[in-house]
Amino acid sequence: MAPRLFDQRLALRRGWLSSGVWRFRELVDPELDEAAIVTLREGSTPLYDSSAVARWAGIEGLLLKHEGLNPTGSFKDRGMTVAVSRARRSGAQLLACASTGNTAASLAAYCAAARLACVVLAPLDGTAVGKLSQALAYGARTLLVRGDFDAALRLVRAEAARGGLALLNSVNPFRIEGQKAIVFELLQDLGWQPPDWIAFPAGNLGNCAAFGKALREALQVGLIERAPRLLAVQAAGAAPFAAAFERGFDALEPVAPSTVASAIRIGDPASYPRAVRAIRSTGGCVVAVEDAHLLEAKAVIDRAGIGCEPASAAALAGVRALVERGAVLRGERVVCVLTGHVLKDPDTTLAWQRGELEPQACGPRSGPEQIDATEDALRRALAAARARPDPPSGRSAGSGA
Ligand SMILES: Cc1ncc(COP(=O)(O)O)c(C=O)c1O
Repeated sequence: MAPRLFDQRLALRRGWLSSGVWRFRELVDPELDEAAIVTLREGSTPLYDSSAVARWAGIEGLLLKHEGLNPTGSFKDRGMTVAVSRARRSGAQLLACASTGNTAASLAAYCAAARLACVVLAPLDGTAVGKLSQALAYGARTLLVRGDFDAALRLVRAEAARGGLALLNSVNPFRIEGQKAIVFELLQDLGWQPPDWIAFPAGNLGNCAAFGKALREALQVGLIERAPRLLAVQAAGAAPFAAAFERGFDALEPVAPSTVASAIRIGDPASYPRAVRAIRSTGGCVVAVEDAHLLEAKAVIDRAGIGCEPASAAALAGVRALVERGAVLRGERVVCVLTGHVLKDPDTTLAWQRGELEPQACGPRSGPEQIDATEDALRRALAAARARPDPPSGRSAGSGA
């Protein structure tokens, strides 16, 4: 298959083929008729190059694919356009998901656009306010479950098995088909020259499964000649996949998850078998990072003007950890997938900036500061701002710092 077909569509500004998912229609869902498609022009996200972020990671060739710049602020829109289109085509009456927040926001938006009824289940404790407010704004019936994500997913899966609703979590195969477009698009951004690694945060493992499938297919149809290695990064308090990797993927042992990064606070990932295949088939790696390190990575990404939600920054912290161990070589090219927007979880950002998060991580921090409503107070604050250049980024950076 010639990349030219997909490259020609880059010039389109309007219509469904201008979507960064449907641009790859032949590889995503060639059967679905155009009339059924529900799209918010997802995808076509930027691939950023920041020397400050690369320096912090300890390598030169680091790029950031910002999936937080999708219509609802996360990568979930990639899979949702396909899965909601399919659900509409099949005549589904009620669409539902369990969610740590981003899936709920995305499903709610696509259902609103398609005028379909939807219910979202999210954990009562710890669903980030940006995500919750989106689900409500787009009109989803929003149920806050007294339990964690894993409990909410068990509930909604059981109801789907009884035929009471259409399940739109990433166990829905069409979600995975859409999420493959993250990989197709980043390969396209790089002129179909694959990087050495693709790093991403891992929770329920839908992305890991999707990325592995995308790479297998890109090889099969001849879009690329070699596959990058996948690097899945978990938070240390919610790392059953990383633990299984360390044991040679003997079996998944679910955990009671705990991390500041609510999007990956998942202890019993649903896509484990497919994710194992993805890591094995690409010679990939799974690593866990402490909350303090992922928050530090977030502060570095935020200070570069790029910004992301806490879970997304795990990818960068994982790259740095592997560079320090010598598993990622300093000359290698790495693309980190930033999965969610900086505005998704403002409470965590504010708590970090106010120094309220435990354990304390180092890294750039800027306030906020209170001042009196006087010109004098403002002038003093301005003088302090001028005298205080950007602080260095936390722990000593790797080479090239
Ligand atoms: C921002 C963000 N990053 C990462 C993930 C984890 O993705 P996956 O469940 O596909 O592993 C999620 C899932 O909700 C998310 O919202």
